[in-house]
Amino acid sequence: MTKKRVLITGGAGFLGSHLCDRFLAERCHVIAMDNLITGSLENIEHLFHREDFEFYHHDVSKFVHVSGDLDYILHFASPASPIDYLKIPIQTLKVGSLGTHNLLGLAKAKGARMLIASTSEVYGDPLVHPQTEEYWGNVNPVGPRGVYDEAKRFQEAMTMAYHTYHGLETRIVRIFNTFGPRMRLDDGRVLPAFIGQALRGEDLTAFGDGSQTRSFCYVDDLIEGIYRLLMSDCVDPVNIGNPDEITINQFAEEIIKLTGSQSKIIYKPLPKDDPMQRQPNITKAKEVLGWEPKYSRNEGLKPTLEYFQNKVK
Ligand SMILES: NC(=O)c1ccc[n+]([C@@H]2O[C@H](COP(=O)([O-])OP(=O)(O)OC[C@H]3O[C@@H](n4cnc5c(N)ncnc54)[C@H](O)[C@@H]3O)[C@@H](O)[C@H]2O)c1
Repeated sequence: MTKKRVLITGGAGFLGSHLCDRFLAERCHVIAMDNLITGSLENIEHLFHREDFEFYHHDVSKFVHVSGDLDYILHFASPASPIDYLKIPIQTLKVGSLGTHNLLGLAKAKGARMLIASTSEVYGDPLVHPQTEEYWGNVNPVGPRGVYDEAKRFQEAMTMAYHTYHGLETRIVRIFNTFGPRMRLDDGRVLPAFIGQALRGEDLTAFGDGSQTRSFCYVDDLIEGIYRLLMSDCVDPVNIGNPDEITINQFAEEIIKLTGSQSKIIYKPLPKDDPMQRQPNITKAKEVLGWEPKYSRNEGLKPTLEYFQNKVK
């Protein structure tokens, strides 16, 4: 039987590299494409010896060519953390718009099924809690986070248009905060930031009064949800995340305890448009994909902490 051929953009990033591992384990031929703007070859160097793995160093906001057949395209290329997308706002808008358009064109030419990585940020600072897929969001298009949120909203609209107008097979996953090995310690997201500060014995920086909430999903759970969504016939967006919600203050205490650090929590002003609440409603994922998270935050934090401890060393 010929192997399914899968293109994973952002393949050298945190989530993209885990997807490469998963699709190789499913006996697919994997082509990872990445311009390494926020990713690292370290995340995929364990795959370079394999004949069923290829890496293309390429910016997907420019024309994308891949020779041979493609069965699936998973578009995960995009700066994903506030620090990254505030530093490179134009590239963020381009990869969500031009990059998505290029890949939809490629999917159409190859007859491939395309899955895009959208985000809970399409809900903005939500006025509905927890967030269901039917909620349209509360986004400031001209605020600093607009470059990411609106790129992702445009990406969803463009993908749906290709489905409706060209009959392309498309899938949209709305990813809520996910964590695990291969995150960058310095990417500005709250989980690696807290772990890095605790491991270095520094105080943990919370923004605002720390009462805002987040819900963290372990990466293995997310990858399973994405795989199931790709294989399903669900065209509408699906939330994948862990509904176990925690305040930033509680989370900081948890990290301090887990690392055995003497750190304290210090407070800085809340960044503009920072969402106050984040919790996925995953009813649809349960019903349509038979998916729900298996790992508790604590179970996921163990391998993650080990990974970061080695990095800090
Ligand atoms: N990690 C999360 O919690 C989370 C939550 C919601 C959505 N997402 C989405 O998942 C995807 C992956 O996020 P991540 O956390 O792995 O981030 P990441 O920064 O680790 O990975 C993104 C990868 O895309 C690459 N990239 C960026 N622009 C590119 C371009 N123009 N051409 C080619 N490659 C490019 C980067 O070099 C990097 O390797 C993103 O689309 C992000 O918006 C992630």
